[in-house]
Amino acid sequence: MVIIDGKKVSVDLQQELKAGVEHDRAKTGKVPGLVVIIVGQDPASQVYVRNKAKTCKEIGMNSTVIELPAETPQQELLERIEELNADPDVHGILVQQPLPRHIDEMAVTLAIDPKKDVDGFHPVNVGNLVLGHLDQCYISCTPYGILELLGRYGIETKGKHCVVVGRSNIVGKPMANLMLQKLEATNCTVTVCHSASKDIPSLTRQADILIAAIGKARFITADMVKPGAVVIDVGINRIEDSSTKSGFRLVGDVDFDQVSPISSAITPVPGGVGPMTIAMLLKNTLQSFRRSSGL
Ligand code: GUN
Repeated sequence: MVIIDGKKVSVDLQQELKAGVEHDRAKTGKVPGLVVIIVGQDPASQVYVRNKAKTCKEIGMNSTVIELPAETPQQELLERIEELNADPDVHGILVQQPLPRHIDEMAVTLAIDPKKDVDGFHPVNVGNLVLGHLDQCYISCTPYGILELLGRYGIETKGKHCVVVGRSNIVGKPMANLMLQKLEATNCTVTVCHSASKDIPSLTRQADILIAAIGKARFITADMVKPGAVVIDVGINRIEDSSTKSGFRLVGDVDFDQVSPISSAITPVPGGVGPMTIAMLLKNTLQSFRRSSGL
């Protein structure tokens, strides 16, 4: 059994991106710029946003965080996005979700120029992904990170049965659509299970590649997994644990202790899929810079 080390892959990838940024800077005198907007003070979002900005700087990109108060009117947010759309030094715009309830997330997504939508949430990018025009779109960072992990670990995908558990717009739907594309690292038969699916264990047991993105702690147990399957765990769930200083710890959507011995490869939580998400955001930002500079 192989433990897929997302932390290591993300560090390797950051080194490659850093070299890419430096190479382009020597050629053009410019570097990619990412702007992250956070509205309100959700503590988890603040941590994510800080990490995004920090990693961006570490690889030599420009990064700006715009912090807006929770009561910011939607119109004001849309106007800020318009300014960033028009700014040639900004190559990526990300508005951290969740947003306060008075703001319509779809209106915000639609306001971002698809060419700067490094989250890959805009319908133009989602549509191009579904159509297989991957050279013209940005892929949502978590599914893109999973693709990168499968590729770097040389996991065979062609003709395999990939079962995705979860149908969110950020992970489940783009993941399923990616895995059925006719590409080197995809080309699977794909099944998507969700809350209305009947007999989920009978579906997950058919998976050669099982991708769990449900947001329920240790939902996938050993009886739901075919021996030898590759198991990708997207979940990040807090559970109480009185033995830790904080009183909680993070677990995935997969019961790692039960499932890891029967899998052929598995991502741990933490240290699996999570670290890849930021790396892919930076990869998308560098890609946007290159596309806009004609590189
Ligand atoms: N909130 C949690 N994950 C994400 C993400 O990938 N992008 C944005 N914009 N918000 C998030």
